[in-house]
Amino acid sequence: MNKNIKWYLVIAVSVILLIVYSGYLFTDIGRGLGGNDIRTEEPLNNDEKESSKKLPIPPLLEDKNPEEGKAEFDLKVQYGKTEFIPGYETNTLGYNGDYLGPIIKVNKGDDVKINIDNALDEPTTVHWHGLIVPAEMDGGPHQVIDPNTTWQPYFTIDQPAATLWYHPHLLHKTGEQVYKGLAGLLYIEDEDSKELNIPKEHGINDIPLVIQDKRFTDNGDISYNLNTRDLMNGFLGDTVLINGAINPELDIKNEVIRFRLLNGSNARSYEFNFSDRREFYQIASDGGFLKESIEMDRVFLAPAERAEILVDFSDYSVGDKITFRDANYNLMTINIVEESNKNIDIPKELVEIIDYDLDEVVRTREFIMSGMGPMVTINGKQMNMDRIDERLNLGELEEWIITNDSAGMGGMGMMNSIPHPFHVHAVQFRVIERNGEIPPLNERGWKDTVMVDNGGEVRILVKFSKKGLFMYHCHILEHEDSGMMGQFLVE
Ligand code: C2O
Ligand code: CU
Ligand code: CU
Repeated sequence: MNKNIKWYLVIAVSVILLIVYSGYLFTDIGRGLGGNDIRTEEPLNNDEKESSKKLPIPPLLEDKNPEEGKAEFDLKVQYGKTEFIPGYETNTLGYNGDYLGPIIKVNKGDDVKINIDNALDEPTTVHWHGLIVPAEMDGGPHQVIDPNTTWQPYFTIDQPAATLWYHPHLLHKTGEQVYKGLAGLLYIEDEDSKELNIPKEHGINDIPLVIQDKRFTDNGDISYNLNTRDLMNGFLGDTVLINGAINPELDIKNEVIRFRLLNGSNARSYEFNFSDRREFYQIASDGGFLKESIEMDRVFLAPAERAEILVDFSDYSVGDKITFRDANYNLMTINIVEESNKNIDIPKELVEIIDYDLDEVVRTREFIMSGMGPMVTINGKQMNMDRIDERLNLGELEEWIITNDSAGMGGMGMMNSIPHPFHVHAVQFRVIERNGEIPPLNERGWKDTVMVDNGGEVRILVKFSKKGLFMYHCHILEHEDSGMMGQFLVE
């Protein structure tokens, strides 16, 4: 054989081996980095960890102020113990209980006061995700609640009916506190939500579903020890819980059921569907009702996103079972246990949403999300509480262009797929373009969090109505904690 050809062969074989080997390497530090999507990675334990717990329904928190148009609530941030796996007690955190929090329900226009006691021996904050309130009431990293102190925010509800949520926002500690159990829902009701012909009975046909993934140790603890891979992709658990229960069962009548879905996970995204690929209707996104109900057979939710869906079970009979799933994994069994005497027609028209006029855009800003692991940045910077990154004027319409450029290594297609969910405080925005196209129907309503795929570009229109210093950040909590966050001042 010709000497040159022999050398070519040796080099070619080495290069192939190197590529294969590095593929393994990267698979190890982050499955999904090898060109796959982290969202579909990592098998879940749900099908093995059978538990026939009934779906826990978070209670509605009592309003202590009987006056019309006013509301007052007490929240206590506390330590708890939760039995996720039968026979094992897990240390958790909760609001007014062992794990998660009650639902705070308010009406549009209400003057609300909340008394929050921190009974932990570490500081925390309580942020109202999706709520449009002045910065001092927002509960971001600046509104620290020290141990054994009380924070008393007050605000007027100044936005339409929506399913929002609350969670800690302590600088560099958000991921851990949320993971251990600090999260709760906040419902806003208004004329529309009361008048629409949709299910409204809490826990009966209006069902909150807080979906989160956990990683259990052999003794049933939920550990939050981040490995390299968690720092890259965000923390992915091996088991998905709904309202704190693994594979719970929900008993319903064969009628239209409203589910309020919150992806409260640190980093995992889901594509929810039903075992029979049943069609359902999405009626609300993060910030409230859509213009029209949208027929779909799966709904994708990135961390922090919400969706309200209506599912018509009227063609089922008592004794039937349906499973609620993510991709191909079972998350909850729905049992039809009683014949319904109701017959709701799912409304097509929902609410009026006035579109912004593009001619009114006064400024365009760009937000480039890039970097990997602990080096993740927005516009090349990491969070600094003493630095104001953007200055805006109250009431001005702006276009924000958010791009995801995390393709650190590029080239062979490796390190190329870390999607970042971009969240903005104090606003509900409108998505006008996703990767050069008009966004899907269910992204055309009010949003406060939007997934930006790797290499992707999303354009949103924002207009602020409250003053002060707020945050924008990636809602993969490990990225946020690493510093993938910036501050903007509205004046
Ligand atoms: Cu849900 Cu700044 O957070
Ligand atoms: Cu927020
Ligand atoms: Cu991110």
